[in-house]
Amino acid sequence: MSIKESVLEQFEAHREEYLSGEQIAAALGVSRSAVWKAVRSLQTEGYLFDGVSGKGYRLREGGDVLSAQAIRRYLGDAAEGLNLLVRRTVTSTNTLLKEMAAEGAPAFTVLAAEEQTAGRGRMNRSFYSPAATGLYLSILLRPSMKAEDALFITTAAAVAVARAIEKVSGKTAGIKWVNDVFVDGKKVCGILTEGSLSMESGRLECAICGIGVNLCDPPEGFPEDIRHAAGSLFGHEAPPAEVRSRLAAEILREFLAFYAAWETQPFLDEYIRRSVVVGRDVTVLGRGEPRTATVLAIDRRCRLCVRYADGTEEALSSGEISVRLI
Ligand code: BTN
Repeated sequence: MSIKESVLEQFEAHREEYLSGEQIAAALGVSRSAVWKAVRSLQTEGYLFDGVSGKGYRLREGGDVLSAQAIRRYLGDAAEGLNLLVRRTVTSTNTLLKEMAAEGAPAFTVLAAEEQTAGRGRMNRSFYSPAATGLYLSILLRPSMKAEDALFITTAAAVAVARAIEKVSGKTAGIKWVNDVFVDGKKVCGILTEGSLSMESGRLECAICGIGVNLCDPPEGFPEDIRHAAGSLFGHEAPPAEVRSRLAAEILREFLAFYAAWETQPFLDEYIRRSVVVGRDVTVLGRGEPRTATVLAIDRRCRLCVRYADGTEEALSSGEISVRLI
């Protein structure tokens, strides 16, 4: 842990008290100037401090800086065994975590960021990931699972996100097959699960589940191409304090509980129940000409069962297919 992270941990652990530079320096066994350098650096990252002369500083409530310490605090015991990393700006948490996985990062390494400069979505699309209004995180798993079952990682994550959103925002969340979470008819979250296969066993060597949530509308609005479809949890309202760290913690808590009981697929019924596409007309994309269909159901293999206008029926696997609500 860097000096800056240790200093932040001290402030997080003593939120109600004022701490002097001297106290922190003594607790950490570093110089006072190293402590002040760390505080200045935290301030430039957006942490707000209240200072009282003669007493010292404390973290100001109400800031919303994503921090590993705050996520841990909200997770409590569920943080055990997590290798939690938080960065301000990254290219893509999925891309970076994939590189870290190749270098041997352990299972349950979580990389969260406040901004992505090259966020990626399904089907080679980009994922708009501006600073200050979203949460972007990826979880590294090393499951012993057949490649085709990797789809259920996305399914579990979608339910985890839906529950977490409801907890922190009080809004009702639905799921649009296969990887989008919707609030008030708009996409507020996308999920991208990527993996690498062992050629010998045909099983997954590792999987990276990446989750991006829009918490607020960007001040300049969403880019033109996604404006009709994208939404956020709080719109232009001020979100509650520490909402990003809390949301990250709730997503991780729910997802890890599902993962621990993987064999029983405890998320599947809820995934189906939360569907916003069953009973609706959709356009099926990704395989030749777009086709209009009515969604009949989602089956236990998480396939989308549709009926086309000519009466033929098909069970669609998510692979290269996506649907647009009509
Ligand atoms: C989609 O909507 O098609 C999926 C979007 C997934 C976005 C998340 S944000 C965190 C992680 N890093 C990425 O580059 N993508 C995923």
